[in-house]
Amino acid sequence: MTGLPTGLPVVTTASDLAAHLEPMRAGGGTVGFVPTMGALHDGHASLVDASVAATDATVVSIFVNPLQFGAGEDLDAYPRDLEADVARCAAHGATVVFAPTVDVMYPDGEPSEGGRILPGPVDMSLAGPLEGRERPTHFAGVAEVVARLFRIVGPCRAFFGQKDFQQLQVVRHLVAEMDLPVDVVGCPTVREPDGLARSSRNVYLTDDERAAAPVLYRTLQAAAASVAEPGWDRTAVEATMAAAISAEPTGHLDYAVVVDPATLHPPEAPQPGDELRLLVACRFGKARLIDNVGAVAG
Ligand code: PAJ
Repeated sequence: MTGLPTGLPVVTTASDLAAHLEPMRAGGGTVGFVPTMGALHDGHASLVDASVAATDATVVSIFVNPLQFGAGEDLDAYPRDLEADVARCAAHGATVVFAPTVDVMYPDGEPSEGGRILPGPVDMSLAGPLEGRERPTHFAGVAEVVARLFRIVGPCRAFFGQKDFQQLQVVRHLVAEMDLPVDVVGCPTVREPDGLARSSRNVYLTDDERAAAPVLYRTLQAAAASVAEPGWDRTAVEATMAAAISAEPTGHLDYAVVVDPATLHPPEAPQPGDELRLLVACRFGKARLIDNVGAVAG
């Protein structure tokens, strides 16, 4: 266990974490868990706040998981600042930071298909579309690390951002599939004042790209209003979203879609009052940004 200047304990191994949580568990306390890859911002902090409010002890993990990065993605460039992250966790009332090395998370090396602890392949109906099309190995890597972290941390509740909506649904599915006694809590997206969703990857944006990026949330909000109108048409709404985002010269659209939140596929015969999810992904220079909102069909 190392102590950074904040006094908040930072542990790096499963046994140190267990020792740290033992007295609290013995007293019947509940453990909340906020998994992160560090470079913490107000979005992450909101998850810590939610956990601190709902549980007796909050574990924040900081681990840049190589398994969820594809070849040519930003694994090496991903921002890292443990000291600032620990200070932020301390300021928001976390109990302990778990910052394992790759060797701790993957003692036998990065697992191939056979060495994974997941009971089977990640459900491709959830992991296949949208982000999965662009990043085919991403959700298998997320699911593997989340399953391993859950096993090490043993939380009652785990807090995830709706910002990564597909990830949230994949994790919910994983928990149901593995029958884990963890309550997965989805928390609202925290945004900049101009609507841009907070993201560790926003630091990659140039000034011009940063000025253009709020188009994503503006477009999502307009589309949420459109689908709430009776007689809305999914293809027309998606085309309007694509046109609005493509009008930004610095943006390169990956997708802009309206889906059923449960399947992440186009809704079949949506009825008025049905829940929908609107999702976009767009590249701005080095940053690939994603965002989404919920909507109710008109
Ligand atoms: P990371 O990108 O660090 O995000 C950690 C958590 O913070 C995720 O649940 C994410 O949805 C949430 N989050 C990010 N930006 C947010 C925002 N603006 N508002 C609210 N919540 C936000 O997601 C990961 O790490 C990894 O895939 C992980 C789950 C840790 C597995 O490696």
